[in-house]
Amino acid sequence: MIKIAVLGYGTVGSGVVKVLNTNANIIAKRAGQEVEVKYVLDLRDFPGDPVERKVVHDFNVILDDPEISIVVETMGGTKPAYEYVKKSLLSGKSVCTSNKELVAAYGAELVHIAKSKSANFLFEASVGGGIPVIRPLNQSLTADKIEQINGILNGTTNYILTKMANDGSDFEDVLKEAQELGYAEKDPTADVEGYDACRKIAILTSLAYGQQVDYQDIYTEGITKITAEDFKYARSMGASIKIFGSSKKVGGRLYAMVAPQMIKSDNPLFAVNDVFNAICVTGNMLGDVMFYGKGAGKEATASAVVSDVVDAVKHMNINVMTIWEDEKLPVAPMDEMKNRFFVRIGAAEKEKAMKAFDEIEAVDAGIDGEFGFVTGVMTEGEFNDTMAEFETFITRIRVGF
Ligand code: HSE
Repeated sequence: MIKIAVLGYGTVGSGVVKVLNTNANIIAKRAGQEVEVKYVLDLRDFPGDPVERKVVHDFNVILDDPEISIVVETMGGTKPAYEYVKKSLLSGKSVCTSNKELVAAYGAELVHIAKSKSANFLFEASVGGGIPVIRPLNQSLTADKIEQINGILNGTTNYILTKMANDGSDFEDVLKEAQELGYAEKDPTADVEGYDACRKIAILTSLAYGQQVDYQDIYTEGITKITAEDFKYARSMGASIKIFGSSKKVGGRLYAMVAPQMIKSDNPLFAVNDVFNAICVTGNMLGDVMFYGKGAGKEATASAVVSDVVDAVKHMNINVMTIWEDEKLPVAPMDEMKNRFFVRIGAAEKEKAMKAFDEIEAVDAGIDGEFGFVTGVMTEGEFNDTMAEFETFITRIRVGF
């Protein structure tokens, strides 16, 4: 029997206990032995809850107990999660976490500590919730050079954009509704500003190239400025608007961003709606491979955490190699990234736009007083310089077709 501790009894932590209880027999079979939760660490008590007698408030009880060989960290944030995870690994315990802030900030260091202690630091649930994508990147896509990763990595924003697309509503109205339904947090900043997706694409990119990609280096733009009018234009092109975390290597340079993009139905990510996530990885031999599923939610996320627990039990005292070196992989300046852009300007500057951009495709969404168009491929720097000459600029959205 393996005894584990769960740090944080919130949505994911209680989900982990639920998954372990609900599927105890099949998990024991797959892990090769039973898995028992011995401690739950939380600031709160949970009277009447099945874990009531397992709750402890002092992390040292867990750290000092040699019976605990696996620690599940589902607290979120980096304080005190980083300290607890690092101490657990240094004492030879494996750690399974759903915490993307922790993994994006300290992944390389924690992977190294785990290796030095013949333990494991596993973080399947940190990206894409229940979707298996970390293990496939580490263990399945090992024959390919990864050329590109493109993912819908945030359920909250995908839900909001799907609603805006379907109902013709404005961002603020849909956000309010999503908050009322519990799909968006009271403070939705991390989701709607793209910060959550930024950490996730940083983790995926670090693993794809085996080096540290700092999330702070990734250009990040959220969805707060997307309007019902933007969707009218998208619809008139047979397109939709999604927010992607993307990275690609071109000529040895790494480009990465989080930003809304217009895509058409020939893109496999077009049909990924509501709170679902999907990640499309392109390998130089394999071509495209796509991972799709629930990117958030108690049971789905907990399922991924428990899959890590099973992996850790199967590899007790054996490090499952994860290549994530400290050496920084620089992200190329955003100005050098090439994209196409959908642009809205005042109708008065239509002729000027026709002259300023080489390849221009007009888009008519029946909105008076405006001129909408799509540019050819150009660098972000060239685009910004050109647009600086316009006085009636309304908005621009990158185009993924
Ligand atoms: N807030 C995140 C989302 C939860 O909406 O996708 C999963 O990381």
